[in-house]
Amino acid sequence: MVPPAVQWQPMSPILRCILAVALLGCGCLRDSKSSPDANAPDAFPMASFDFSGLDPLLLSTTAAPAGLEVATARANELLGGMSLDEKLCLVRGVSGAYVGNVTATAGLPALTLQDGPAGVARFGDVTAFPAPITLAASWDPDLVQRWGAAMAAEERGKGVMVQLGPMMNMVRAPAAGRNFESFGEDPFLAAALVAAEVAGIQSQKVVATAKHFIGNEQETNRDGGDSLIDERTLHEIYYAPFEAAVNAAVGAVMCSYNRIGGTYACENPATLGDLKSGMGFSGWVMSDWGATHSTVASANAGLDMEMPDDANFGSALAAAVAAGSVSQARVDDMVRRILVSLLRLGVLDDPPTGTPATVVTSAEHSTLAREAAAAGVTLLQNHDGALPLDATVKSIAVIGSAGGDAPYSLGGGSAYVNAGNVISPLAALQAQAESTMTIAYARGDGDDDDQEQAVGTASAADAAIVFAAVDSTEGGDRDSLALPAKTDALIAAVAAANRRTIVVLHAPGAVAMPWLDQVKAVLVAFYPGEENGNAIAPILLGADNPGGKLPVSFPRAAEDLPAVSKDQVVPYSEGLAIGYRALDAQKIEPLFPFGHGLSYTTFAFADLGVRAGAAPGSIALDFTVKNTGAHAGSEVAQLYVGFPASAGEPPWVLRGFKRIVLAASESKNATIEISIRELGCWNPDAHRRYVPSGTYYFAVGSSSRDLPLQARVQIQGLGP
Ligand code: NOJ
Repeated sequence: MVPPAVQWQPMSPILRCILAVALLGCGCLRDSKSSPDANAPDAFPMASFDFSGLDPLLLSTTAAPAGLEVATARANELLGGMSLDEKLCLVRGVSGAYVGNVTATAGLPALTLQDGPAGVARFGDVTAFPAPITLAASWDPDLVQRWGAAMAAEERGKGVMVQLGPMMNMVRAPAAGRNFESFGEDPFLAAALVAAEVAGIQSQKVVATAKHFIGNEQETNRDGGDSLIDERTLHEIYYAPFEAAVNAAVGAVMCSYNRIGGTYACENPATLGDLKSGMGFSGWVMSDWGATHSTVASANAGLDMEMPDDANFGSALAAAVAAGSVSQARVDDMVRRILVSLLRLGVLDDPPTGTPATVVTSAEHSTLAREAAAAGVTLLQNHDGALPLDATVKSIAVIGSAGGDAPYSLGGGSAYVNAGNVISPLAALQAQAESTMTIAYARGDGDDDDQEQAVGTASAADAAIVFAAVDSTEGGDRDSLALPAKTDALIAAVAAANRRTIVVLHAPGAVAMPWLDQVKAVLVAFYPGEENGNAIAPILLGADNPGGKLPVSFPRAAEDLPAVSKDQVVPYSEGLAIGYRALDAQKIEPLFPFGHGLSYTTFAFADLGVRAGAAPGSIALDFTVKNTGAHAGSEVAQLYVGFPASAGEPPWVLRGFKRIVLAASESKNATIEISIRELGCWNPDAHRRYVPSGTYYFAVGSSSRDLPLQARVQIQGLGP
């Protein structure tokens, strides 16, 4: 139920008072003479709120997982019956059929851990869902939750108890190799999607693993590279998705390969302390594979399980306990944390029965994979209505091997999922449109003759569609944001030969587009998984309408955003200003902004109203969105907050979003509510969150650079 939008208008003091008491439980709404400030650039609506009397605990993470107490009592009982040797068996890996294995001990079953963030890795007969970055472009937590549940159902079907995902490092350097495994450059978007994915995974009696904690934003020198992140940035940007995972009751966290401020992540008492004591994480911390570098330091800092072997937590840990340098109580804590998550999520009471050979893919999952791949397709440019291909298009040329004989599914490394059969765009177009148009295909991306042949094919068709794939993988970073030189040349040559040239990109994120002005339309389909063509063809043909929104900025020049550091030290010197925050702060025009994505229809935003939300300290923004075009479609309304200058925040930060589906000409009321926590900034002197006092701007629109609705809000803050 969407509450009706409240158009901002001056409110009588009595009505304000009633509203404040009803919604905030206290007289929090201050005098809000709403006459716009004469000095304001526009006649912004103006509201004021007083949060100074609220409980500061509203600003910290406190939600304890459901069932924690019962699970802890049961874990303690089990612990009471275990010998030290049995306990030590549980905190280290052994080799086995899965990527991570723990020996059966003390009546407990063997534990099974498997990648990963994009579905069941390594084994066959699974569904190759799209990559997480594709799901991020959907901006759709409900879809992400269903995707999480489907992946986990397949993991469980294969006998897996612990899924090694979601991956929640941020897209800081656009060329970083594992960006495709992540949810993009914005911590609020990532947090919202992570919470949904964790809920989905764990609904299947599979433990989700939030990884990689923390500061693992590039692959170059990842084994020991030292990420230097200031405290405020760590809390506001890089911890945010992990806090969301903890609030979503995630069962496990994986510490990363790198160092933070000189100390390895898996033996770092400061960051692991923030996770366990600060965020209240009740589950267990496992090391990334081979990321444990010590026994005593790691155990005492908070590492609970070494993976994939026992190099440090085998006989060395037994000796450390015997010598008293690691306490028995600490070993109990490790085991308790593991058992609590497994018990709380139902894994021990109902262990999986499948094996790596079980067939777990299904028609239902393929349908979901297709829905997810389509939801991530983002229309960046569409001049002269080049898309969809309408009835005037009687012939098309499909160019590029990614469109035909080498369709792209997923990036490489531990997240890679075997795809039985990737549906190519060519095959899908042939199946869906061959009766209405002729379809020619040329690879074009081999030698010079290939390119010439492709140009010939393109010039003979009414429209040319060039498919280009950019590979990305764990273990390395991209050298630059450029497509292979041959691909750039092919696109330019095809565009010169066909006035209706459309480019479809399979990319892990931002790429350079030197040919952008020469082509009519550009779609980025990210990494679509096995349903590739089945998702893209209906969009090209107009049977489906693209609704994806960029979860990352596409910069004009690679230098506009941080490069991958080639040194052992990775200075996060941009602080809070990552992604669009940096481009906004430096007033740099992006190629395509964060949050951008066109549709075959158009939308108009109107009637912004600001009022107290339902929860204490929350603020609700009401507005309407109208489909002003002739096609059904969906828009993602995005809410950005401009903090008071004294807060030292970047100009705009995303703090809410909502996907709204509209029939042609339909108009809907929508509300986005921001919790008081989302107005919190980290105070590094007091080591806690506070809400700065002053003038805020709340803006709603269709991307970080298209914010037609704006309201000015006066807030009496909370703390520091
Ligand atoms: C190393 C990767 O960093 C991690 O993400 C993965 O889960 C493990 N290998 C296991 O494959």
